Amino acid sequence: IEKSLEEAFEEKIANEVRIEPKDWMPEQYRKTLVRQISQHAHSEIVGMLPEGNWITRAPSLKRKAILLSKVQDEAGHGLYLYSAAETLGTSRDQMIADLHSGKAKYSSIFNYPTLSWADIGAIGWLVDGAAIMNQVPLIRTSYGPYARAMVRVCKEESFHQRQGFEIMMTLCNGAPAQKKMAQEAFNRWWWPTLMMFGPKDEESPNTEQSMRWKIKRFTNDELRQRFVDMMVPQAEFLGLTVPDKDLKWNEAKNGYDFGDVDWEEFWNVVKGNGPCNKDRISTRVKAHEEGAWVREAALAHAQKRAQREAE
Ligand code: ACO
Repeated sequence: IEKSLEEAFEEKIANEVRIEPKDWMPEQYRKTLVRQISQHAHSEIVGMLPEGNWITRAPSLKRKAILLSKVQDEAGHGLYLYSAAETLGTSRDQMIADLHSGKAKYSSIFNYPTLSWADIGAIGWLVDGAAIMNQVPLIRTSYGPYARAMVRVCKEESFHQRQGFEIMMTLCNGAPAQKKMAQEAFNRWWWPTLMMFGPKDEESPNTEQSMRWKIKRFTNDELRQRFVDMMVPQAEFLGLTVPDKDLKWNEAKNGYDFGDVDWEEFWNVVKGNGPCNKDRISTRVKAHEEGAWVREAALAHAQKRAQREAE
């Protein structure tokens, strides 16, 4: 029986038929998805922190309202993604416990500090740009609930990216001090953004199998290359200099050659030793503990209502 189930699964994958929660799936496929989707959810939730840092200091009421709603969108993305992961049989409590204990990963990018208002522009433009590059293909990922969650997430991410680009445009067309602030933010965020795509293909233990199962549609290096090719003209348009002395157009490959990421820094951040890792986790744990009364109240309310309906 196991064999025919596996054959049916493989046939669906080959024919681009989505796998749904109640379908049979190999245990390793389930595990890979819980890992990737929960890490993705954690990234959205932790990703609220660096930007949340600027809500009270946004330069105008309009900027504040936009940033507030963007950060709220990220919370929404996290919740969809936890729901998608729950369809695979792991509870949200478990996933959150794994984040808080340091067992589960989240994107390295959110362990860097936001030092100036220009960082909010750079995050929207670069980090959300990288997120779109990575997530648009996930609309075609083989697991149904994950693919469907990505549709709305990507729509909202493109709005986020435009707002980031618009902040950068304003700064780059402003006073010399504003332009300088934009360039400094660009210098700080460029390399960490390239790290978001993950290790080089030959050092990525999960890519090969995830590509075979059509969980991933492109490899880490393929997406990183596309990202560089997309961003360089945008940086030129802004009048910013890409902080990479090895960046060079390569006619033969119809793309840019670019310098190597500092992989030591990448792994250091992934392992928990980046500039803000400890701070991010302790902020999340504190928020969770201080929010316990909300969860208890919601549960009590739900029980009361269920009881009333039963009477
Ligand atoms: N930050 C932290 N950890 C990373 C990163 C990163 N930028 N890149 C890779 N890793 C981890 C992987 O999670 C994996 O660890 P694990 O096996 O313990 O889970 C390990 O490094 C090796 O990497 P890969 O074999 O390349 O892992 P994978 O095939 O999962 O590819 C990738 C990594 C590209 C991030 C993939 O998981 C993915 O596409 N995820 C969905 C998108 C996402 O999570 N985006 C989050 C940031 S965008 C945002 O939320 C705004």
